[in-house]
Amino acid sequence: MANVAVIGAQWGDEGKGKVVDWLASRADIVVRFQGGHNAGHTLVVGNQTYKLSLLPSGVVRGKLGIIGNGVVLDPDALLGEIAKVRAQGLDVGPHNLRIAENTPLILPLHPALDKAREEARGEHKIGTTGRGIGPAYEDKVARRAIRLCDLAEPETLSTKLDELLLHHNTLLKGLGAATFEKQELLDKLLALAPQLLPFSEAVWERLDEARHSGKRVLFEGAQAVMLDVDHGTYPFVTSSNTVAGNAAAGAGVGPHGIGMVLGIAKAYTTRVGSGPFPTELKDDIGKRLGEVGHEFGTVTGRPRRCGWFDACLVRQAVKVGGVQGLVLTKLDVLDGLTELKICTGYEIDGEVFKRLPAAAAAQAKARPIYETLEGWTQSTRGARSWAQLPATAIKYVKRIEELVEAQVTLLSTSPERDDTILVSDPFAG
Ligand code: IMP
Repeated sequence: MANVAVIGAQWGDEGKGKVVDWLASRADIVVRFQGGHNAGHTLVVGNQTYKLSLLPSGVVRGKLGIIGNGVVLDPDALLGEIAKVRAQGLDVGPHNLRIAENTPLILPLHPALDKAREEARGEHKIGTTGRGIGPAYEDKVARRAIRLCDLAEPETLSTKLDELLLHHNTLLKGLGAATFEKQELLDKLLALAPQLLPFSEAVWERLDEARHSGKRVLFEGAQAVMLDVDHGTYPFVTSSNTVAGNAAAGAGVGPHGIGMVLGIAKAYTTRVGSGPFPTELKDDIGKRLGEVGHEFGTVTGRPRRCGWFDACLVRQAVKVGGVQGLVLTKLDVLDGLTELKICTGYEIDGEVFKRLPAAAAAQAKARPIYETLEGWTQSTRGARSWAQLPATAIKYVKRIEELVEAQVTLLSTSPERDDTILVSDPFAG
């Protein structure tokens, strides 16, 4: 089975949308395996712009979309998104969207707790999307989550709500936030049941059939390795495993079912939310990267922090994320800069590190060690072959390959789907 998994290799927003869309056109099935509606990407197809948070990108391309059990699903967000894309003329229904029956749900009490906690953290806030992602994963691990399949069992729902509310209302009260009524939640869930249950199934079985019939599956990651709950810049991370290994558990396939792993990285670095960012630029160059790269969060609308390419960080993401091929995006944003820097390591309290240590205080103290490269004045925007790139741009890309210890599989040179330099076919197996 020639499958492909796509994950972010930095702190998210690497331009996965375009790459996933490009790959989705070559796949039969597109699967989301972690995260929730904290993700966001924009797909431009003809004269329509689709803003997707939860729907697997494949549905826009007429492919089967699957939401795996590793996702946390907000029913209102899902139904809202379906209504929006339907209004744009897209046909989305149980025939082309399947949701794992064991997917945990995000209920209104999750964003309420997320926001109340962030407020209580004050200046130490994580900068979450406020969508209840963390609290929903906590409930899953604590074995009190309401899952999609529970909507078919009113009695199970009622019992589970008692346990859930005991926990959440206690916390919400302690944080000075409004509490929730059981009957109101129960009524809401029972009303949602007939709308959601037609999408529900054992998706692992469908994926197993797909494997036997040689269908191509694309696993679409959200967020990125440096936001992984284990391997990222903890605690400034999201609450799921974003590494490719989780595509197996989050969809219900074995580790060999994932196929080729592509890591997406921007030709520079950005981050939304709080947390360490060694190569962050608070000067005019940082501002310029933000302006030229249109660096505003898709979900939050907040300006993204910008900085030089951190090869040390991406190398780490390549290793822990299982990345076999690199997709480098937004090279054109660097056009016109005469000098470029790449971070090759960190200096922390006088000691040199070739990786970002796990401890929070050490991460905050990490000072980048830079290598300087010559930039280019010509435009690389829209290039579709290496021959169209200036020699210094090729040198920059080759140096990145060496430092991160991964070959470039795809190079993206503009938001347009076809402005891509394909080095090798990820679906070749
Ligand atoms: P949460 O996922 O809403 O809990 O947010 C935790 C951290 O992950 C925050 O720093 C968010 O800004 C970040 N985050 C969550 N989703 C995305 C994404 O899709 N792109 C970039 N950052 C994200």
